[in-house]
Amino acid sequence: MKTVQNEGIPKLYEEFVEYFLVGAAVNKFTLNHQEQLLKQHFNSITAENEMKFESLQPMEGQFQFEVADQMLDFAKKNDMGVRGHTLVWHNQTPDWMFEKPSSGIVDRATLLERMKAHIDTVVTRYKGNFYAWDVVNEAVSDSGNDILRSSKWLDIVGEEFIAKAFEYAHAADPTALLFYNDYNESDAIKREKIYRLVKSLKEKDVPIHGIGMQSHWNLDQPSLDDIRQTIERYASLGVTLHITEMDLSMFQFDDRRTDCTVPTEVMLEKQAQRYGQVFKLFKEYSEHISSVTFWGAADDYTWLDHFPVHNRKNWPFLFDTEHKPKQSFWNVINSSKS
Ligand code: GLA
Repeated sequence: MKTVQNEGIPKLYEEFVEYFLVGAAVNKFTLNHQEQLLKQHFNSITAENEMKFESLQPMEGQFQFEVADQMLDFAKKNDMGVRGHTLVWHNQTPDWMFEKPSSGIVDRATLLERMKAHIDTVVTRYKGNFYAWDVVNEAVSDSGNDILRSSKWLDIVGEEFIAKAFEYAHAADPTALLFYNDYNESDAIKREKIYRLVKSLKEKDVPIHGIGMQSHWNLDQPSLDDIRQTIERYASLGVTLHITEMDLSMFQFDDRRTDCTVPTEVMLEKQAQRYGQVFKLFKEYSEHISSVTFWGAADDYTWLDHFPVHNRKNWPFLFDTEHKPKQSFWNVINSSKS
């Protein structure tokens, strides 16, 4: 475990305690390596990968709960909440789910039975311990007129796969808040698609309680105005909002530079300014936002070190590679007081 000299600085989650939970995504490595930082600044965790379908049920009926259980233990010992991520997704779901044991594509009824079996087992195991679940992840399409992206779920079950997932999850744990979670959530066109999807679920009395805004953003996009409009649009459905996977990349998505090996002063300043502005907005809308989770905790580990440019370092968080607070941290703290 890394030890840091962060005594005497404000605790991030305490500053926002009357507004929302402050969470971090963890994995086996960071749970250990960032232990002290996590305990000091966060009051919620989620699993980066370890609660996804392929991690929990790699083969039919063979569940692996070891790492997910360790995360829950850690959270309990440190008085933190846990967000479950994620039950139904087109990615990181093993092929067996969609195939017959002999060969060929499984039929609709069997796929729904398998979905139900997975959700029953997983959600029941953590019943009462996880305050929320991302029930369906990334089902909305990024381009074109279709609302839903093409996927095996959609091909085999039809659009009802979404409602079914929520019904099964709600039956397994009626106390957990259930979320539809997606990225590019603040893009004007995708925002409307997500809005329409969730509206139609609500109209059918599907037990959905919230929208997860992943918030994989960068120094320039989306604009503050787009974020504000998104929060207002989603909140108008009467659902709770969670910021579920926040990071502020130093690079725009189509910037494929590889020559930048340390963050420049300009980048760090811009990031700090933006973090301050965005948290000010979250606080302003805290009546609707009850949890803000970063997709990591400190710059020594981020999935953005490999995506979308392989082996390019990124520095998307409030704490640096040594776990020391960046100016971004101080601006976030100041936003809680303004
Ligand atoms: C999406 C998923 C997450 C994770 C990130 C990349 O946002 O919801 O689980 O896979 O991509 O780390």
